[in-house]
Parts: sequence; C-alpha cells; structure tokens
Amino acid sequence: MSTDSASDAQRLPILLLNGPNLNTLGLRQPDIYGADTLADVVALAERTAADVGFGLRAAQTNHEGEMIDWIHEARGQVSGIVINPAGWTHTSVALADALVIPEVPIMEVHISNVHKREAFRHHSYVSPLAAGIIVGYGIRGYEFAIRRLAEIVAADRP
Ligand code: DQA
Repeated sequence: MSTDSASDAQRLPILLLNGPNLNTLGLRQPDIYGADTLADVVALAERTAADVGFGLRAAQTNHEGEMIDWIHEARGQVSGIVINPAGWTHTSVALADALVIPEVPIMEVHISNVHKREAFRHHSYVSPLAAGIIVGYGIRGYEFAIRRLAEIVAADRP
C-alpha cells in the first residue's frame, strides 16, 4: 500500500448535513430548487467525496435539536462539514453556536441564489463561521463545496 492510500484510509469522513424541508427536494418549488431529489444530492456528494479521497456521512433532519446533537457528536469524528442549513440559516443562533464546537472547516451551501430572493434570506448566521459559501449553483454547489473542503483539509493537514 502506498503512503498516499494509507493516509487516505485514515482520513476522517466529510459530514454532509441538510436542514429542514430538504427531504422534499424535487417536489418543493422545483422552479427554485430544481428536479433533483435529496437522494440525488447524497449520491453526487458520495461520488465527489470518493473522487477526492474522503468518505462521506450524510444526514437530513427537520428537527433543530437533532441537527445540533449531530454537530456536537461530529467533534473528533469528521474532517469537515458541508451544510445546507436551509431555513435555519436565517434564524438560528443555536445552530451557529453548535457549528463552532467540532472545530473543523465548514462549507455553507444554498441551492438557490438566496440574494436574489426575499430580504430575510440575505442574512446568514452561518456565513461568518464558514470557510466558503456557495449559492445559486443548484445541487452542483454540494460538489463544489466538497472539492473545496478537501483542499482546505489537505492544506491544514498535509
Ligand atoms: C436554501 C435557501 C433557504 O433560504 C431556504 O430556506 C431553504 C433552502 C437553498 O438551498 O437555497 O430551505 O438553503
């Protein structure tokens, strides 16, 4: 086994978190969010993570406390977090507080261009914590976020 593949095997996975209502992707406002489903998002994320040498754990919830518990449990268990906080982006101080706890890079993804939409979507409690923010690229944003996260993790821990 080469040194490279040995270190790949020891890398902690990337955690992909999707917030409320994203379980309805494909059904909900397809003019805004597109026709792809959450299963399509997870499949794309798994392929992308494998391509850059990481495993992926993916989870979605409509319950804020459950999301916060998962983020606490991620400490020491993941290389980084890709999160679409959905509606909690614009409302949740508690989610932002939790995201500091794992002490790993965070990438924030929004499928739609939130800045072209209602004013209440223009503010994010998560953005000040994020290593990068990707908005308005449809579900490809998850792919870009994972690729960028892999670069950041590699630069931090060569
Ligand atoms: C979203 C944008 C949010 O404003 C909205 O509440 C969502 C999805 C997006 O992916 O574009 O649920 O995060």
